Amino acid sequence: PAAKLVKMTAMPEMVALFNGSGGIASLLIGWGEIQKSWAESAVLADASEGVERSAMAAPDPVVQDTLASTADQLAHAAVASLSAFSAASIFLAILIGGVTFTGSLIAFGKLSGKIKSQPLLYPGQRIVNVLLLGVLIACGVWIAVDPLATAPVYIAVVLSFVLGVAFVVPIGGGDMPVVISLLNSYSGLAACAAGFAVDNTLLIITGALVGASGLILTRIMCLAMNRSLPNVLFSGFGAAETSGPSGDGEQKEAKILTPDKAFYMLEAAQRVIFVPGYGMAVAQAQHAVKELAQLMEKNGTEVQFVVHPVAGRMPGHMNVLLAEADVPYEKLCELDDVNPTMESVDVAIVLGANDVVNPLAMEPDSPIAGMPIAEVHRAKTVFTLKRSMRSGYAGIDNPLFYLDNNYMVLGDAKATIQALADEFKGEE
Ligand code: TAP
Repeated sequence: PAAKLVKMTAMPEMVALFNGSGGIASLLIGWGEIQKSWAESAVLADASEGVERSAMAAPDPVVQDTLASTADQLAHAAVASLSAFSAASIFLAILIGGVTFTGSLIAFGKLSGKIKSQPLLYPGQRIVNVLLLGVLIACGVWIAVDPLATAPVYIAVVLSFVLGVAFVVPIGGGDMPVVISLLNSYSGLAACAAGFAVDNTLLIITGALVGASGLILTRIMCLAMNRSLPNVLFSGFGAAETSGPSGDGEQKEAKILTPDKAFYMLEAAQRVIFVPGYGMAVAQAQHAVKELAQLMEKNGTEVQFVVHPVAGRMPGHMNVLLAEADVPYEKLCELDDVNPTMESVDVAIVLGANDVVNPLAMEPDSPIAGMPIAEVHRAKTVFTLKRSMRSGYAGIDNPLFYLDNNYMVLGDAKATIQALADEFKGEE
């Protein structure tokens, strides 16, 4: 029911909560398993003491020897009730589960706007994080060497929660989808460790699958943003408060167009591409855009959709929305399919996208340098459909808005697309 009820735009938050649930579940499995071992060990130790007392009280030396040997065996079993391997598995389930739990809660808070999405940076942050990790590793070694020691387990639980928070707070909201994908992988690894702790093959296999696929997805997302994982995790990207109206002191004028005027250019266009972005998801414009595409095709126009790998707020966000609207799969193109032929595009419609069409990415010293983009600025005409001149998620200015071939069609993306579709219908 939760998955049915959640809005598409809130899906990453929900995935964050689910990852967190997976993390805490693994931590609790580890916690339960070690408590069980401690309890077993205590029972065996009690039994050993009891038998030892009986041995001392027994009058017959033969009975005494037999009971003493049994007490020894019980004492040995009490100490060996948990192997070093199981103890290490439990520690990993607790460590990774705890980090995943609190890290996911922070990611959820940042994505839902419940806490500030800007990176929280302070001097010596990395040293603190490395120290935390160092203490946790020491606890892990302690637990493996002495599985009955309780102190390192309590310390590990508390510090893993702290590390989860410390790991995510320095990362900006824009990078949260990557963090969520990484935490998804962690939740799998935690489950895998819990599987070893309770000797459950199914949990080991499913955990390993989630862990590996999450890591692969994380890597794909980093490549699509032309960023390395360490850069995402440690650079504090987005620390500057740059969102808001574009402006670098220079007075720039963007050309504004209304849908009825934009219609005439679209009517005459032979090749049109749509570049959907986060705004299409917010406006829920996918059904309207499918209708408009059909009307244009009826008018003899070739229509394609260019799907940027990190458009929107989660992997495959645009693909899911366009599939929901039954846009035929063969109309979806990748950047490499369309960018080389961009000059032959009559109109590129930027549908609630911003960062993924920002030509600044092609400048070496820009904050998004190297990020692959849909190079719509090379199309004959560009219509940028959004509500204002505000920046996108990366919080940086977009020079596309001020190019000679660009027209801003301001307003809610769905309303604009519907207005364009109405113009086509009026011509029929
Ligand atoms: P953005 O750069 O965030 O731009 C979306 C634009 O949509 C905004 O500028 C906003 O402008 C507009 N918008 C919002 N609501 C609208 C509405 N109802 N109607 C019309 N326009 C609306 O999105 P993008 O181009 O899709 O880029 C995605 C960003 O997320 C990139 O920076 C990417 O690196 C980051 N990111 C994505 C992922 C994944 S997996 N997708 C992962 C990590 C990071 P107005 O407010 O003016 O309307």
